Order: sequence, then C-alpha cells, then structure tokens
Amino acid sequence: RLWPVLLSGGAGTRLWPLSRKHYPKQLQALLSDRTMLQETVLRTRDLAGVAPPLVVCHQEQRFLVTEQLAAVGLAPQRIVLEPSGRNTAPALVVSALLLAGEDPQGLLLAQPADHHIADPEAFRAAVAQAARAARDGWLVTFGVRPTRPETGYGYIQAGAAIDGFEGVRAVLSFVEKPEAATAARLAGSPGCYWNSGVFLLPVGPFLDEVRRLQPDLLAACERAIAEGREDLEFFRLDAEAFESAPALPIDKAIMELSGRVAVVPVEMGWRDVGSWPVLHEALRTLRPTESDGNVFEGDVEAESVRNCHIRADGRLVAALGVEDLTIVVTDDAVLVARTDEAARVGALVERLGRRN
Ligand code: GDD
Ligand code: MG
Repeated sequence: RLWPVLLSGGAGTRLWPLSRKHYPKQLQALLSDRTMLQETVLRTRDLAGVAPPLVVCHQEQRFLVTEQLAAVGLAPQRIVLEPSGRNTAPALVVSALLLAGEDPQGLLLAQPADHHIADPEAFRAAVAQAARAARDGWLVTFGVRPTRPETGYGYIQAGAAIDGFEGVRAVLSFVEKPEAATAARLAGSPGCYWNSGVFLLPVGPFLDEVRRLQPDLLAACERAIAEGREDLEFFRLDAEAFESAPALPIDKAIMELSGRVAVVPVEMGWRDVGSWPVLHEALRTLRPTESDGNVFEGDVEAESVRNCHIRADGRLVAALGVEDLTIVVTDDAVLVARTDEAARVGALVERLGRRN
C-alpha cells in the first residue's frame, strides 16, 4: 500500500510574524480555507491503494494536528511525536521503521506539509508513475523545472529514462542547496530539476540504504522506537535516543549519496510557500481579482498602494502611497519589509530569540 507521511516539523520562521513557533505556517490556512496540512492530506486521498496518513510533528502540536485531520474527516494511522525536531532524515527513518512492522512491501510518500500544488491531478499521475519504479527498489524524487537560481532548494541532474518505467529517469547527481554560482549554472542546464521535497520511498530498500549510508542515524531511530511508547493515536519517540540521532536533512543523508535515486519530472504548479515573496505571488495568482498587484488580508484601507502584501490581524491597517512592501500586523508584532528583501526575515527572527 501507499502510506502518506506528512512532515510537519518546520517552524516557518521566514513567514514571521504570521508563522510562530507554537502556531507554524503549515497549521494555518494561507492559500485556501483549509490549512496547508489539511490540503496536503486531502491531495493524497484519491491515490490508488492509499492508506491512512502518518504525521510526524513536534509533541506540542499533537492536539492541533489531531483536530485539523478530524475536521476534514481523516483518522491518521499514527501521529509520531518528536521531543524536538532533528530535521527530515530522522523523521522519515522513524516513519519507515514503524511502517516496516506494518507493511514491509509498502511505499512511503513523504510530503512536506507546507507546499502548494496548483494541479493535484498532475501530482497524482506522477505518483502513479513513480510507484512502479519505487516497487522496483528506486527512491523516487519529483523534479520541478527551475525558474530562478534559487539557493534554497536541491538540484537534480536527470540521466537516461529507466527502461520499463514511463516518465522515470535515473538521477546522475543530487546537489542540496548549492552556492549561488552553482545554482545559476544548474538552473539553466537542460535535464536539471529542483527537488520538490516530495519522495516516494519503498520502505525496505530505503531502510537498506539508510543502514548502508547512515548506520548511526538508523540505530538512534530504532532505539527511539524501541524505547518509545504508544499513547492513544500518538507514538511518542524516546527523547534521549531520538535526540542522539544526527540532525540531517534526508537530501544530504541519503539522496546526495545513494545510487538508487530516480526522478519523475512533473509540471504541477508546485510552490514551497516558505517566504513572503512566494506567498504574495501565490495569492496574486489565486486571486486575480485583487488589483495593482496587492494582496490584502483583514481590515486594510489603502490608497495609491501598489504591489503590497498587507495583513491586518485584529487591527485596522491603513496604507498610503507605498509600493513593494510587506506589512504584517498581528497581536504582538509588526513586520514592515521591502518584499524583495522579505525572504531574509528568517535571519532577523533568529535575533529575536525567545521573543519570537
Ligand atoms: N517532523 C519534522 N521534523 N518535519 C520537519 C523537520 C523535523 O525536524 N524539519 C523539517 N521538517 C519538515 C518541514 O516542515 C517541511 O515541511 C519539510 O520537512 C522540508 O523541510 P524544510 O526545512 O522546509 O526543507 P527545505 O525547504 O529547506 O529543503 C527541502 O525542500 C526543498 C523544496 O521545498 C529539500 O528537500 C530541498 O532539496 C528541496 O528543494
Ligand atoms: Mg521548505
């Protein structure tokens, strides 16, 4: 069967002050009236052979996550609780280990909970293509055509088509978050794709690769489960063991190193809604009714305002004669930034420390 695994652990600091430590962006309704987490699970509901989802999140978010799944009529297979985030490799390895007990032949569909996919049909078709290769032991990534030399993504150089699996190509190299010059070169080269961050992994062969490439990480995750405990629909990982796992992203821990990685290139209107400029652009596309390139949310009065993203949460915000600004007003914080600089707000938030 095919098991959706939702990664819901990021803090989303680049969308501060909307996204907060205890109320991160993936648990908010940013692009529709459903939260990003809800949209992500619903996207997989019609896949052939799909099983109930697993969610991996911080233990403090367990009730929010449970409520949000229940609100769209979904009972999760499990909610795996992390005592603290150790990045995506440990989160996916514990998921694979738990699934191995349940369905060793199963496929794990890893999905970040904070992505927007405008064409879910194209996504589902790509997953169906990927499934055939995954059953044959390939770790499958989904590649998106680059539109700019973004340094925050992984880059995949695709090789030849894999015989017998339509739409699937072998991966020649995987480079996670390259430097600017490399990103510029890769973004312009044919057969090069952004890694979407969605993966289709055959549970058994994936764990074999983890055993070969990251034995310490595997051992820590096995111990976190052996010493962890079931608690209603939750699985609580053992804190001491889990925190001893190297905090690596799956991209660096496995994808850059493994020779069994394949890619399905797909045009699905994919966006990692990680920063203010991307959210602004996404909303402008989804709501062509708003004029002058503006996006307003809440009680906003504006005159002679162009290309601005203004959010007023619980207060009235008035703007006059400004352009290209992101203005976000919440209960306890205000952000004013030039939109073309607003992708850097994450670095600013680090300086806020506990005030975040
Ligand atoms: N449960 C859990 N625990 N989830 C986590 C953790 C963790 O410790 N860390 C991150 N996540 C979740 C995030 O919430 C997000 O949904 C997803 O895993 C990916 O993590 P990011 O931290 O957002 O990764 P990234 O955006 O820097 O890079 C990844 O995604 C890019 C595309 O958006 C990589 O896979 C890149 O190669 C890729 O291009
Ligand atoms: Mg991301």
